[in-house]
Amino acid sequence: MGRWERILFPGNREWACSQAEGDVLEIAAGTAARVHEISDGQMVSATVDGIELLVANVGGEYRSIGDVCTHAQCSLAEGEIEDGTVICPCHGSVFDLRSGEVLESPATEGEPVYQARVEGDEIQVAKPGT
Ligand code: FES
Repeated sequence: MGRWERILFPGNREWACSQAEGDVLEIAAGTAARVHEISDGQMVSATVDGIELLVANVGGEYRSIGDVCTHAQCSLAEGEIEDGTVICPCHGSVFDLRSGEVLESPATEGEPVYQARVEGDEIQVAKPGT
């Protein structure tokens, strides 16, 4: 197991993250129950190894894209999930939570996509290209 550091999610919920071998970034909840606090239709933001990302639960599937809106840098995790998309809380840009593509402006650039999966009590997030 790699280096562990404390990260803080909105709502002051402390989670731990680590960088494991093979460039797999792991977000580990303090308890399994905390993983499951991300219920269907909810999302959280996190900074993992300097990357600001969000993890969303879409119909029981965890998806992860960049958290910083490409329009004016608002946190997408503070927006709304709707039909597999996230709506930016600031000016209403819509991003696909699977592809990261912009579906509605004013944003014109998509978000990076990360692979997300649940392993035991952990949500694991992999960098693009790994
Ligand atoms: S900051 Fe997201 S749409 Fe403007």
